[in-house]
Amino acid sequence: MLPRVCVIGAGSSGIAAAKALRQDGFDFDCFEKSDRVGGNWVFKNRNGMSSAYRSLHINTSRERMGFPDFPMPKSYPDFPHHTHIAAYFDAYVDHFGLRERITFETGVERAAPVPGGGWEVALDDGRTLRYDALMVANGHHWDARWPEPAFPGSEAFAGVQIHAHEYTGEDPGFFRDKRVVVLGMGNSAMDIAVESSFSAAATYLAARRGAWVIPKYVFGRPLDQISTQAGVPFRLRQRFMQTVLRMAVGDMERYGLPKPDHRPLEAHPTVSDDLLSRVAHGEIAPKPNIARLTERTVVFADGSEVDADIVIYCTGYKVTFPFFDPDVISAPDNDLPLFRRVFHPVHAGVYFIGLLQPLGAIMPLAAAQSEWVCDHLAGRYALPAPAELRADIERERARMFKRYVASKRHTMQVDYDDYLADLRRERRRGAERARASLAAAA
Ligand SMILES: Cc1cc2nc3c(=O)[nH]c(=O)nc-3n(C[C@H](O)[C@H](O)[C@H](O)COP(=O)(O)OP(=O)(O)OC[C@H]3O[C@@H](n4cnc5c(N)ncnc54)[C@H](O)[C@@H]3O)c2cc1C
Ligand SMILES: NC(=O)c1ccc[n+]([C@@H]2O[C@H](COP(=O)([O-])OP(=O)(O)OC[C@H]3O[C@@H](n4cnc5c(N)ncnc54)[C@H](OP(=O)(O)O)[C@@H]3O)[C@@H](O)[C@H]2O)c1
Repeated sequence: MLPRVCVIGAGSSGIAAAKALRQDGFDFDCFEKSDRVGGNWVFKNRNGMSSAYRSLHINTSRERMGFPDFPMPKSYPDFPHHTHIAAYFDAYVDHFGLRERITFETGVERAAPVPGGGWEVALDDGRTLRYDALMVANGHHWDARWPEPAFPGSEAFAGVQIHAHEYTGEDPGFFRDKRVVVLGMGNSAMDIAVESSFSAAATYLAARRGAWVIPKYVFGRPLDQISTQAGVPFRLRQRFMQTVLRMAVGDMERYGLPKPDHRPLEAHPTVSDDLLSRVAHGEIAPKPNIARLTERTVVFADGSEVDADIVIYCTGYKVTFPFFDPDVISAPDNDLPLFRRVFHPVHAGVYFIGLLQPLGAIMPLAAAQSEWVCDHLAGRYALPAPAELRADIERERARMFKRYVASKRHTMQVDYDDYLADLRRERRRGAERARASLAAAA
């Protein structure tokens, strides 16, 4: 008597959930808005939610991003193009026989807990269905976060203002001979500023805070494949990263970029092999934050002013669940406290897959989370007592907020290897709890 499960979304997280459910013999439905799997990795996805641009390559290496039971082909480069990644997710779905279990072009419009247990799910085809459990995998990089509030004068600016989410890189003439201001120091800003720098008349990279720009390779190997052991004390890992950065790139101020107000590994990694080179070649000019816009110019916080035709806000994403009543489940300022980023502390039967920001790739973590949820749904895993669970959530949150720079982008950070080791440990603990409660009941 396994519970009946609904999976929302068939991006990489949703297909990992579907695979775990299928493997364990659950009766489940997986609803996907789009006509295909892969979510963000489907360039110009029909769901309108993908933030991919034509030139996008992954910045977490192939070995770290592939699902453990279905590695990416060896023929792939270390940092494949988005077309490779989308094809890989398609192959995963076919390999595990999941395609016929996914209902495409069907969105979940509303999901609400039913008094007494279970969830009611309303679909955009007019059907309303009942499930015992929900696995939520709707992604968290599609709802653009514009600067809040908008910069003074932005309504008077005569040029183009877009968010990174809208940037597709399709029009080769988009940046040509234009004066472009890119705002942000995350990975979108790095990629887009570099791309602009090859054809624009001028590219300015504006930032309210500095970042450590981490190379993809050191010592001839993808950096994320070096020192991948769990349990290494944070200070030691930080010292290692500081040493690597000192040798590989040196001080950010040396390039004219703002000095980071934090040490390495205290912010989500900004990874680029090209940004520092383009700055060093004078093709990207660093600037402080935008202070205001006029009809034709951008004025920065240091009072400098440049003519501008295009402003691209690479200011991140909002975590939203349009199908939940916000009074029931929401993530104000991107913050949704969960037990080990999966279990809701109040609502039973709802599980979040891939709703985390690892230093490393999301996919193997989403797969481990899915197996963990299946353990729970099958009765092989029991949660800690509610008070203990809440205390654990608070402990983890306090640790994360203490380590990371205060920002809406740092609300769900985890360390890849430590997180996987943690889940393994927790699954063992919960299995013992489940056995003990069965024994007590017998
Ligand atoms: C530009 C960019 C580059 C990135 N690069 C990397 C990287 O190199 N490595 C990495 O690990 N991560 C990267 N990320 C993070 C990214 O979030 C993950 O790679 C991955 O896409 C997460 O998969 P997901 O399934 O959780 O979400 P998504 O890929 O967003 O998929 C969500 C799916 O759910 C569906 N859906 C949403 N709402 C509904 C609904 N109501 N009903 C039905 N279906 C619904 C969508 O149609 C979509 O198919 C990047 C993000 C961006 C924006
Ligand atoms: N090649 C790739 O694989 C690739 C490419 C793009 C994106 N990604 C991934 O996609 C996710 C989103 O990345 P992202 O770069 O789009 O967003 P992000 O990581 O959230 O970065 C947003 C940036 O904008 C800044 N910012 C936010 N609001 C601002 C404001 N009002 N004024 C000035 N600056 C502001 C932030 O500064 P603070 O730090 O001060 O908040 C930060 O520098 C990440 O997981 C990233 O790794 C990957």
